[in-house]
Amino acid sequence: MSTMEAVTTSEAAASKAKEDTLLSPKFYTTDFDAMNRLDISSVRVEWDAMMAEYEGDNNHDHFQRTPEFVAEVEAVFSQVSPELRQEFIDFLISSVTSEFSGCILYNEIQKNVENPDIKALMRYMARDESRHASFINQSLKDLGIGLDLGNLKRNKAYTYFKPKYIFYATYLSEKIGYARYITIFRQLERHPDKRFHPIFKWFHRWCNDEFRHGESFALIMRANPHLLRGGNVYWIRFFLLAVYATMYVRDHTRPMLHHAMGFESTDYDYTVFRITSEISKQVFPITLDIDNAAFRAGLDKLLAVQTGLTAAKKQGGLMGRVKQVGWAVQGLAAFARLYFVPVVRHELPSNVRAVAAW
Ligand SMILES: [Fe+2]
Ligand SMILES: [Fe+2]
Repeated sequence: MSTMEAVTTSEAAASKAKEDTLLSPKFYTTDFDAMNRLDISSVRVEWDAMMAEYEGDNNHDHFQRTPEFVAEVEAVFSQVSPELRQEFIDFLISSVTSEFSGCILYNEIQKNVENPDIKALMRYMARDESRHASFINQSLKDLGIGLDLGNLKRNKAYTYFKPKYIFYATYLSEKIGYARYITIFRQLERHPDKRFHPIFKWFHRWCNDEFRHGESFALIMRANPHLLRGGNVYWIRFFLLAVYATMYVRDHTRPMLHHAMGFESTDYDYTVFRITSEISKQVFPITLDIDNAAFRAGLDKLLAVQTGLTAAKKQGGLMGRVKQVGWAVQGLAAFARLYFVPVVRHELPSNVRAVAAW
């Protein structure tokens, strides 16, 4: 059963997007001088091939709404239950926030560096993310709850990340974004009767943008191999776990959304983890052991902690606060145990580029 609060106005959608919790998508800023000094010359050939793909812009005409889109919203989406509608809105708000987060970060880097390789890349990626964010926002507008993105940009809190953390986190969120979109697209391709909103039809060409964004960060990291060894492997491990765990807990707050598509949240998430882990071997020397029983139990513990925390917050008062602290401590302990579940190690392939084969 969903415990989600109803979002029925633009103001409520804006405050949801502005939320700064462990689970909500964040906005980032970084060290622009360090970005400016990046050298990608050791991957020049692959880099230039990738830049040509960006320049070719094969998705330039993709993010346009068609008359069929509008008709399908009216014919199909208008029939869904209020609970599913709410979970879908929550999904749209968190998706538009993370798309827009990429748009702002890439655009800020682009404005603040002289380095021609990085500047050009960031401009292309900001272009793509801006299209993605506006396209989702259009669907929120259909429901009368569109976001004022300029306002969100001015009013949401920014988190500072060193460039290497940006690379680990953003690489992963691009690849996991690809895996999420392609998994949904393939499922609804097999079960078109379960496609309750037309936006899912757009995910196929869309996810190729995310895949390519991930490739860009893979090349940057492979051109700077110190980022991928020694003590940095502990950071990679941390980010892998943080990204997977956040997704797992957040997705389980939307069981009906997955159910409507014919998934269980857990199966959907493990499919996404499997794809992401497979891709990330292009750059990370380790993957999480997602089939280890201790790993699975750990994620379920984090989910129980989140459920407990939400209930304690609702309860309020002194007892509520005491319980919240108790859950927070349990959450930290569960995360630490997960961190020490042994990981799978492998050699990096000589060819960096991966193929979007899912
Ligand atoms: Fe995107
Ligand atoms: Fe992206």
